[in-house]
Amino acid sequence: MKTLKVALLGCGNVGAQVARILLEDADTLAARTGARLELVGIAVRNVDSPRDVELPRELFTTDASTLVAGADLVIELMGGIEPARGLILEAIRHGACVVTGNKALLAQDGPTLYEEADKAGVQLSYEAAVAGAIPILRPIRDSLSGDRITRVLGIVNGTTNFILDQMDSTGAQFADALAEAQRLGYAEADPTADVEGHDAAAKAAILAALSFHTRFSLADVHCEGITKVSAADIAAAKDAGFVIKLLAIAEKLTDDDGAEGVSVRVHPTLLPREHPLAAVRGAFNAVFVEAENAGELMFYGQGAGGTPTASAVLGDLVSAARRVVLGGPGRTETTTGHVPALPISASRTSYHVGLSVA
Ligand code: HSE
Repeated sequence: MKTLKVALLGCGNVGAQVARILLEDADTLAARTGARLELVGIAVRNVDSPRDVELPRELFTTDASTLVAGADLVIELMGGIEPARGLILEAIRHGACVVTGNKALLAQDGPTLYEEADKAGVQLSYEAAVAGAIPILRPIRDSLSGDRITRVLGIVNGTTNFILDQMDSTGAQFADALAEAQRLGYAEADPTADVEGHDAAAKAAILAALSFHTRFSLADVHCEGITKVSAADIAAAKDAGFVIKLLAIAEKLTDDDGAEGVSVRVHPTLLPREHPLAAVRGAFNAVFVEAENAGELMFYGQGAGGTPTASAVLGDLVSAARRVVLGGPGRTETTTGHVPALPISASRTSYHVGLSVA
């Protein structure tokens, strides 16, 4: 049986679980791919940092570049822009398939990476970048590729969904609900990226690019977080039959001149309480997709956490390994711009989402 060398870059919550599963489930993964997936090294900043999972010390290295150079498959879970971007490009250029969960990098510079991967004929996959364990990117890219998506509504940030849900169910103010989210370990000590909507905006850019077959970057996404949502807003919404959710929205709209475009935005949204997304409680995520032929679809599950997110990473890895084993060319997970991106101005977007039309 062929052996494929796997390099792991980063060993945080998700990376540690990916390494554990690669080691523990080696036989199952070999049976599923037709190749042994040999974890040849884990690149980290500090070899001696404490980890969530006990892993063989000899796997750790600080020399990410050398590790990448010897790998057939590279998993990038370092986060941030550099050195992740440079290492991914190195991997692609020497012919390795890459799996990443790096939403910030993809939202900022995805098209460059997709083009490089296409040129090199390798697969660049990133299911873990949006909504953790929920299979959403591959269904949009593959299963719905014969359809036309008209709108995507996503609860793609668990921390803010938890906070808004706490406010809705207990009447708490934002600051108290945030403190509870921090106490339970959902929110970071610095919760800015979550509560200001930046994390959801990066995911919205990725979802929109795949759904509408075009390019979007973070700069195209109108973004408002939840820090100004008060207990009184939540109560008033409730009285009127709505729930307030932080939604990532990507939808086709027509501008004042009749040109078709796509509005991509993140903001607190009034959702009728009978909408399927209104039932998404706590830190869960869900993505609601509307397509011309398929109609309405909803994908629901855990949007964060080491083990759930590792599931998405491993799914991409198995898919890439199968492709390498079969000798097929790689393919990246987005097209690059056959529909012009035409963001509609934020002032024309709706803060209310109806059951079927905005
Ligand atoms: N901070 C994110 C969330 C983690 O709360 O959903 C997953 O990207």
